[in-house]
Amino acid sequence: MKRHAMALGGAGLMLGVSLLAVQAQDGMGKVPEPPAFAAQSEPNFVSISDMLEYKALPEYHEPEWVTKNFVDTGKLPPVAERLPKEPLVYKTANMPDGVGIYGDTMRHVIGGRPDGWNYAGGAQQGWGGIDIGMYECLTRTGPLFQVKADELEPMPNLAKSWEWSEDGHELTMHLIEGAKWSDGMPFSADDVIFYWEDNVLDTNVSPTGGATPETFGVGTTLVKVDDYTVKWTFKEVRPTQYLYQMAYGAFCPGPAHMLKPQHPKYNAENTYEEYKNAFPPEYLNFPVMGAWVPVEYRPDDVIVLRRNPYYWKVDADGNQLPYLNEVSYRLSTWSDRDVQTVAGTADFSNLEQPENFVESLKRSAEADAPARLQFGARTIGYTLYPNLSGNGWGEPSELGQAIRELNRNLDFRKAVSMALDRQSMGESLVKGPFTTPYPGGLYAGTSFYDKDSTAYFPYSLDEAKAYLAKAGLSDTDGNGIVNFPAGTAGGQDVQITLLVNGDYGTDKSLAEGVLTMMEKLGIRVVLDTISGNSLTEIQQGGKFDWAVLRNGADLVSVVQGTVGLAPVGPRTAFSHRVGTDGTLDLLPFEQEMVDVVNKFIASSDNAERAELMKQYQALYTQNLYGIGLTQYPGALIINKRFANIPAGAPIFQFNWAEDNIIRERVFVPADKQTTNELQPDTLPAAPGIGNGPIKN
Ligand code: GLA
Repeated sequence: MKRHAMALGGAGLMLGVSLLAVQAQDGMGKVPEPPAFAAQSEPNFVSISDMLEYKALPEYHEPEWVTKNFVDTGKLPPVAERLPKEPLVYKTANMPDGVGIYGDTMRHVIGGRPDGWNYAGGAQQGWGGIDIGMYECLTRTGPLFQVKADELEPMPNLAKSWEWSEDGHELTMHLIEGAKWSDGMPFSADDVIFYWEDNVLDTNVSPTGGATPETFGVGTTLVKVDDYTVKWTFKEVRPTQYLYQMAYGAFCPGPAHMLKPQHPKYNAENTYEEYKNAFPPEYLNFPVMGAWVPVEYRPDDVIVLRRNPYYWKVDADGNQLPYLNEVSYRLSTWSDRDVQTVAGTADFSNLEQPENFVESLKRSAEADAPARLQFGARTIGYTLYPNLSGNGWGEPSELGQAIRELNRNLDFRKAVSMALDRQSMGESLVKGPFTTPYPGGLYAGTSFYDKDSTAYFPYSLDEAKAYLAKAGLSDTDGNGIVNFPAGTAGGQDVQITLLVNGDYGTDKSLAEGVLTMMEKLGIRVVLDTISGNSLTEIQQGGKFDWAVLRNGADLVSVVQGTVGLAPVGPRTAFSHRVGTDGTLDLLPFEQEMVDVVNKFIASSDNAERAELMKQYQALYTQNLYGIGLTQYPGALIINKRFANIPAGAPIFQFNWAEDNIIRERVFVPADKQTTNELQPDTLPAAPGIGNGPIKN
């Protein structure tokens, strides 16, 4: 086991001496040193050109049963005609176990539930990799964990190549030519432009994956040049950063031939809500560019996806991918995903809830364990976000507005931070060297992190109380809870609603920890625990005083989801968005964060970018933009029968492991194949409500 595995390889810009240490302030403590915890495997670092290329091969192959039951019967054209002119070819040397064979299935378990297939229009599929397997995006970043640091850039995907104009403002992208959606309809620039114009730019639509126009830069435009060429124009010069935003989840176009007729702009009878819901989960064989197509859905039971006969990626021998005929998703709970995968009744889990670590480790260590378990770096982290919008976002009540004003007061945020005993909070999830107190901002151990630029306001109830008094709060009625000053919200008790994701035990435990610790400070916290898909709407609608959130890839990788690091646009940040009055009432330090992030986006100088992220970290943590809670590693659990799982695949870095492991290349060797397929020998039939898969 190598010891230096905490640095996140692929993004590894290791930093030198900090030029910008944080300024000491009252109450500031030393940033805790995370306990040593070695990741259990490391990537083999390669160049993107070692992984793939686009080229025509002399011959193509597919599973025999597809040729026999579908091509020979005239149901499908021959495989060569279903592939694009130049398919994406995975190079053999980069496949850990080489060229694979067809067959078998990967059984997933998820805690989410689908509300439809219109990802572009804002429908959610239930997470856990369903959408990742269905929708392909212009670029791809999940597998970048294995790309050499000095060659780090997004991988080509639907966009097979691109070039910048001399002045750096224009980016011309070449799309795969002659590729088809899983129903056989052509994929072209029209799909890309429909996604952009009528989903991203249309503010009535909130694409799943969170794309807004500013995700790609303020004032950016995108136009069709010809069927397989599109052109971006940016205000910035060579903002290569946006190429990361064109990967999952912000630029994964849906099938325009299906979606356009349902979009209110083209269909006067439909509302935007009807557009979003036009393809409910019962609608099967929905056309995708991904490796698997949904062919069966049983509420609260299962979703089955079968191989896409038009998939446009192959191995170097010309075998059409994916190797796995099927992926399935049991609709259960996230915690059950760990339990079942460890037990062998499911095949894949991101072990991300520390409450399950000990049991999972125990079982996986046994000689007859069906699954292997490998820990990565500490890339899972939770933050308590005070809603910083004082501008009416989410239409707060009088009490809500008074809380927003408190949230905007640094003394108040310091009081909250110093009332949190992060050490015991982490230990209440799991004992041992896993969790570490998290001050907020970039995670310790990641490549842009700089300890000297990190401020920390650690646990000290006395100091917390002093800060609370400084913020003008005292317990005027003697009931143990501080009151607003007379004249603010009627001088009532400070009672704060904390939004929490009810689908995860960890989120709930952390929120309960916050509640208990705030009680000791004299603040009453009430949990607003929301399960299911409505959570996103509540979050994006700004309907929260505080929220506990498992952070996204921005705080791990910086380059992925960069615009989420600060409120650079009206709707890019989690906890501060444009209000009913149309303004974004940024606090001065937020404006500084925005300037730093924008400079980062516009810069391609690595030393400058490292320096900017130190400034970002200092601004974030000194001002407690978000209040960090805990940070810990996750483990990939995968059934031992699968081959081609890349070494050192993290459960979360640029993306989740369902993308990172390149599932379309994963296979099961002949002696390990199972009969676990739920819909053997079938392919998707025509799209439609109730249309299941067909056998020939
Ligand atoms: C959920 C799960 C993650 C991962 C993602 C993929 O968020 O909690 O582990 O599977 O879905 O989108």
